Amino acid sequence: MSTSSRFAHKIVIVTGAASGIGRATLIRLVAEGAVALAVDLNEAGLQESVALAQATATHGGRAAHAVASIADEAAVKKTVADFVAREGGLDVLVNMAGFLRATHTQETTFEHFMNVVQVNLGGTFLFCREAMPHLIQRKGNIVNAASTSSYFGHPYMAAYAASKGGVAAMTHTLAWEFLKTGVRVNAVAPGGISTPLTQAMATGFPEGVDYSLITHLSPLNGFGQPENVAGVIAMLASADGAHINGEVIRIDGGVHS
Ligand SMILES: NC(=O)c1ccc[n+]([C@@H]2O[C@H](COP(=O)([O-])OP(=O)(O)OC[C@H]3O[C@@H](n4cnc5c(N)ncnc54)[C@H](O)[C@@H]3O)[C@@H](O)[C@H]2O)c1
Repeated sequence: MSTSSRFAHKIVIVTGAASGIGRATLIRLVAEGAVALAVDLNEAGLQESVALAQATATHGGRAAHAVASIADEAAVKKTVADFVAREGGLDVLVNMAGFLRATHTQETTFEHFMNVVQVNLGGTFLFCREAMPHLIQRKGNIVNAASTSSYFGHPYMAAYAASKGGVAAMTHTLAWEFLKTGVRVNAVAPGGISTPLTQAMATGFPEGVDYSLITHLSPLNGFGQPENVAGVIAMLASADGAHINGEVIRIDGGVHS
């Protein structure tokens, strides 16, 4: 575990923190001194993440949790406002909450399509919007969860890829729109990271899928770990990333080189 203090006295929110990359990011930032709020739908997972983060906290780092759906506008407003009121500001927002279900495009209901976009893109937008006034005050920054599907074809994931393409486009746009405020907005684009999301995807392809179209999505040299992504997020969100803005960093072991 890192003994760096890059996030000492920094106040951060991590969504999707009950699992996978969000959990690893929470642990990493708190281990480097962050005062963090972990947000997710899954309360049991949040409690476990917070306990893990507290166990390796250094430099005054600590974590608390809030149960909320990132797609619930009122809940997002309240979650951000309550945390900022309690801690006195906000330096970093990490938007990792999201979900994926593979479907045949012809069998994808409009309801499912819109639900994926509402959560993955809409929820990321809501947190960015609510956090922005506070981030401006402290020249903070945002790290969003894009995906290799933001830029490359991922068959049977039309809704997910559309939502993640939107996250990448929104990241570039916010970076430019808020350039003069000192707020930076970046994203990571993971691919093939071993988490419950990819485990569920691997076993969740619908019947009739042509696997020859999706073998390229599996990393040739093995799946990455959530910590591989958390380390990049920590770099982007810290002073080490001070001159990186509007960037989407691909973390896929080279599969989309
Ligand atoms: N694992 C990968 O290879 C990979 C690749 C590309 C992008 N991503 C993205 O990275 C992010 C993290 O993924 P992961 O692999 O750690 O997945 P994960 O399933 O382990 O974690 C996602 C978390 O988001 C939470 N969540 C889902 N919907 C929510 C909602 N409406 N409100 C609040 N929380 C919600 C889940 O409860 C879960 O804890 C996601 O946005 C995902 O799309 C992951």
